[in-house]
Amino acid sequence: MRIYKAKDYQALSRKAANIISAQIIMKPNCVLGLATGSSPIGTYKQLIEWYQKGDLDFHEVKTVNLDEYVGLSGDNEQSYRHFMNENLFNHVNIELQNTNVPDGRAEDMNTECQRYNNLIRSLGGIDLQLLGIGRNGHIGFNEPEEAFEQETHMVNLTESTIEANSRLFNDPSEVPRHAVTMGIKTIMQARQILLIASGEDKADAIQKTIFGAVTPRVPASILQIHNSLTIVADEAALSKCDLGNKDMLVL
Ligand code: GLP
Repeated sequence: MRIYKAKDYQALSRKAANIISAQIIMKPNCVLGLATGSSPIGTYKQLIEWYQKGDLDFHEVKTVNLDEYVGLSGDNEQSYRHFMNENLFNHVNIELQNTNVPDGRAEDMNTECQRYNNLIRSLGGIDLQLLGIGRNGHIGFNEPEEAFEQETHMVNLTESTIEANSRLFNDPSEVPRHAVTMGIKTIMQARQILLIASGEDKADAIQKTIFGAVTPRVPASILQIHNSLTIVADEAALSKCDLGNKDMLVL
């Protein structure tokens, strides 16, 4: 794995956007796996800026998002589909029909999970998967479990995730209790993975991800065995990791 230590959130966002840009430039019809949450907002802003300057072209890019809340339709402001439209898709020249988010309102969730797995396969897999990380080490909505869940599946969200995500809702009782998420196997099959983390409340999760045992109790720890993992984190998120004085380290 390659770890970049960024001074702050802005520097982290710029570095992450640089890595995603490189992917788009090298393969204009690439498949990007995208993430939601506060962490990638700065990265998306930077990509939009470079697009507006004429340095990036999204017209052949395809995307698959990690996850969605169960019960929210795409036009609900709290849905991840809405988040993606607002924070990236509406501001670049991507074809909306080339963007994919699981359908949280599907009538039959098992069928929806199968549809999503088949869709990712039919696109030829993911070239670059962007990931944030939960305070408990979750990726997508793969919460700490007894075993790694493989493909797209429905999850019960943990209290800590519900609490962490409640800041984005008017009332904590509105946070959905279930979500649908890509599984760990699907994420691990991405040809490249880019994990971003900012702030001290991620320091424990990042320390366990990089140096801890590989265990489904810390879902992100499995990333240690991916052969093309890049972590971009700010100083606060790396405050529990001893990287010496280096700003870039290959482990
Ligand atoms: C949610 C998302 C994750 C995200 C995590 C952390 O649970 N499903 O994909 O990584 O939150 O979010 P944030 O970046 O806001 O801390």
